[in-house]
Amino acid sequence: MARNILITGGNSGIGKVMAQTLAAQGDHVVIASRDLARSQAVAADIQAAHPGAHIEAMALDLARVDDIDRFAQELLGRMPIIDVLILNAGLYTQPTRSLDNGLEAMIGIMHFGHFRLTQRLLDAVKTADAGRIIVTASMVHRFGRIREKTFKNPRGHRLAVQAYAQAKLANILFTRELARRLADTAVTANCFHPGAVATGIWAEAPRLLQPMINRVLITPEQGADTGIWLASADDARARSGEYFIKRKVAPTATAASDMENAQWLWDYSVEYCHRSGTPEPGRVE
Ligand SMILES: NC(=O)c1ccc[n+]([C@@H]2O[C@H](COP(=O)([O-])OP(=O)(O)OC[C@H]3O[C@@H](n4cnc5c(N)ncnc54)[C@H](OP(=O)(O)O)[C@@H]3O)[C@@H](O)[C@H]2O)c1
Repeated sequence: MARNILITGGNSGIGKVMAQTLAAQGDHVVIASRDLARSQAVAADIQAAHPGAHIEAMALDLARVDDIDRFAQELLGRMPIIDVLILNAGLYTQPTRSLDNGLEAMIGIMHFGHFRLTQRLLDAVKTADAGRIIVTASMVHRFGRIREKTFKNPRGHRLAVQAYAQAKLANILFTRELARRLADTAVTANCFHPGAVATGIWAEAPRLLQPMINRVLITPEQGADTGIWLASADDARARSGEYFIKRKVAPTATAASDMENAQWLWDYSVEYCHRSGTPEPGRVE
């Protein structure tokens, strides 16, 4: 039977390939990003290439709590059961900048935005027979440190890459804590490093480094492979709370296995959601 899949950031790069492959496999896929026209064009291309595919595009801005809540409500109207939730949207900004809600953009979108969205959708994932939550993390987490004072202060980082690394470290800590909280359920939560992939995320990387970066980048098809495997393979459900590279569990930095820090970040994120002035998020585990 067709599974229901949501992919954030599904209109470009790694997310687009995941959407293409999973829709071609027969799953019902929703892609969600800010640029609805681009998402609709991607969905139309996939539909044209795979006439039997069931793919839809929706607008979502993970930088805005009100938009996340609106999106979640609309999505649940279309997809009351979510079999696979892929938290993939991301960005790299140089220099670092603030969102309207005051958060530094990379941690604000990649961690806090996805945290809020997950809270809103978790019950629908639990309703699935064998729900899966997959987070696109990065080996760059190794350069990250979780520092509360930088969450709202983009200038708190010496280099923009430290802000990106903090957000990707937060992605792994979130995955581990989520998996721990879901241990008694049928839902697994895992994350993966896709490799260094030729996508839009490098647009703001320093110009001087571009030629060097371009020489080592792999294709989006190669980068999406582990995510697709985590979303589809029976074997992939054997583990939860893990970080994968090339379909295998891989070691992380010590900071990414620090469960005290993972719990602190979870509690902080719950508090942040409560303080952000909109209705309370759905049931917080
Ligand atoms: N490329 C790499 O080398 C690499 C390596 C490790 C990890 N990753 C991770 O892979 C993930 C996918 O990135 P990519 O490399 O495929 O880059 P990409 O081609 O730039 O795709 C990023 C996606 O995120 C969406 N997005 C950005 N801001 C958003 C927001 N506020 N709300 C909703 N969607 C938003 C974008 O769509 P809109 O602009 O339409 O919103 C786009 O679909 C990211 O989490 C990234 O950190 C990438």
